[in-house]
Order: sequence, then C-alpha cells, then structure tokens
Amino acid sequence: MIRNDIKQLAAYHVPDASGLIKLDAMENPYPLPDVLRDQWANRIRSVNINRYPDTEMGELRHAIADRDGLQADQVLLGNGSDELIQMALIAADQGACAIPQPTFAMYEIISRWLKRPVASVPLGKNFSLNADAFLRVCAREKAAIAFLACPNNPTGNMWPRDTIRQIVDNFRGLLIIDEAYNPFADESYTDMIAPHVIVLRTYSKLGMAGLRLGYALGHPDTIAQLNKVRLPYNISSPGQASARFFLEHFDVFEEQVKKIRSNRSRMLATMMSMDHIEVFPSQTNFILLRVPNADATFEALKQRGILVKNLHAAGGLLENCLRVTIGMPEENTQFIASLKEIIGETSS
Ligand SMILES: Cc1ncc(COP(=O)(O)O)c(C=O)c1O
Repeated sequence: MIRNDIKQLAAYHVPDASGLIKLDAMENPYPLPDVLRDQWANRIRSVNINRYPDTEMGELRHAIADRDGLQADQVLLGNGSDELIQMALIAADQGACAIPQPTFAMYEIISRWLKRPVASVPLGKNFSLNADAFLRVCAREKAAIAFLACPNNPTGNMWPRDTIRQIVDNFRGLLIIDEAYNPFADESYTDMIAPHVIVLRTYSKLGMAGLRLGYALGHPDTIAQLNKVRLPYNISSPGQASARFFLEHFDVFEEQVKKIRSNRSRMLATMMSMDHIEVFPSQTNFILLRVPNADATFEALKQRGILVKNLHAAGGLLENCLRVTIGMPEENTQFIASLKEIIGETSS
C-alpha cells in the first residue's frame, strides 16, 4: 500500500518548546506591534472565506517583484519556500540533485520523496565551497538540479560571489540559489538570475513564519514552467490578504531585522571571547558554535529553560555543533550566561 522507502522514513520532527526560550527555529523573536495587529485583523475581516482564493495573485506578485526591481511574471509564490523547493524538484529534468553537505535538510528529504538521487559535495574548512569540486560532482553524477543556500543553513556563512558565479556559468541544470536568510546578509545574488538560475526567498525569517509565504524570482519562462506544478490555490485568502498588508508595513520588519543584526554582532563578539568553544561567523539570524560536548550542553541548556538545535547527530563537520537563533536581548543574555556556566562546568 505504501512505498517501502517511505515506510523507512521518519516524519519531520519539531521538538516541543512549551515553557522554553525558543532559540531553535530561526524565527524573528519580535512580535507584531499591537497597533499593526489590530489593523491586520481589520484587513482579514474583509476576506470572503466562502470563495476559493485568487489563484493568479497578480497584485501580490507585482508588489513583491517591485521590491526587487523585477516584473510580476518573474515571481512564483509558495506555501513557504519549502513548497517552491518541492516544485523545482518535481519540474527539473531527470537526474541527480546536487547539494553541498551540510546544508538545509529539505533539499535531500524532498529529493528522496521523489526518488531523485542526491549527490552531496562536502564543504571544506570553515564550510567553504569549492566550485571546481562541486561542478565535477555535478558532471559525474549527471545532476539536473542543484541547490546553494546563500547564506547556508546550518553553517551561517555566505559563499563568495566568484564561487557562485563560476557555478552559475558552468552548471547546465536548474540552479536554485536559496536566499532564505537574505535580510541578514550583506549580499544578494539576484543579479545572477538567468533561464537556468532562480532565487528563493521567504517571509519566514523576517517575522512571518506563521504566514507560510515564500517566493521564487526567476526568468519569466522558467517561472511559467514551474507554475505548472503549483497546486491550485496554494496560498490561502487570509494568507494573501496578510501578505499584502505586511508589504505595506515592511518598514516594521526592516526595523526588527536591524535589531536582530545588531543583537547578532553583540552575541558573536561575546561568544568569540569565550574559552573552550568555537564560534563561526554568521550572515544569518543564527550562530553555529562547537562545544566540547554538544549532547550534554544541549541537555543542560534545556534544563535551564533554553531550546537550541543540536546538530551533533549529523556528524562530520557538524560534530559537537549547536545552532542558536538570535532571540530578544534578554533571551540572548540568558543563553550566554547559561552557556558560560555549562562550559565552565564541563571543561573544568
Ligand atoms: C535555507 C533555507 N531555505 C528554506 C527554508 C524554508 O523556509 P520556509 O519557512 O519559507 O519554508 C529554510 C528554513 O529553515 C532554510 O533554512
């Protein structure tokens, strides 16, 4: 009845964060200001929930395209960028999906659902990406699609423009540059959009993770092809109305992003001055760190009421690594104080 390989899979697990300071999921910790919350509720009130949503979403796509100096026919909307990753993996030619390792888990998970082989290219020291090695694996494994998260999750770093340019110029399949963390990065690669190159963005990290809205930016012809594997009505009417409302108030999210970036700088500086841990630079809203014992540190943080992501089980370059999302200043202070205590205890 059910495919054997599906039976072998585990469902995507989201840990229970009740009662904990939630620093595990790269969310924006700042809530929506009360005034805006009321105006938003008023906007939603006018949605005709008895009707199916607008499936073309022309105005919403136009408003999104405008922000990046593109046209509405260069935008495809998804129920989170996860859905766009799925659409790309459905639509791309037969052949492997090439990804660096480690990177965002959904590229590999969705490939497996679709029985698409995965070709992984290990990252180098300090999570660097070697374009020659990546292209060699793409050629050897006959990759039809490749994902490059810029900046990368869970490592937090941004690969240099020259590296990405070399892959753009030499990869012959569909190349997805995933800019989920673009608001926290110093650079964007949207200028590399081409018929075989699309850029993914999401509103999740900006402060609207609950909205589930992601978008692809690309060449109109490629976007039109990907649109053929989009489920009808994939963005709900309240979701569309909300997105349009939040686009009118984007400055609120931009202010919050500024705060998160400066909280990140403060946190990085403090953590880098700590003994016994290794802290990696970040162009995202999280920080990757290596501790002497990730499992013990993760549990000890949890006992102190703080939930982070433990990446140790992935092994390899992520051995003894934890990923902590930038929270509110008081949450970050509590995290640092707890970490100092725990590291002091475990390494004395
Ligand atoms: C690199 C990357 N791409 C995409 C996503 C998915 O984001 P969304 O919430 O838009 O589905 C994530 C989420 O963590 C991510 O890290």
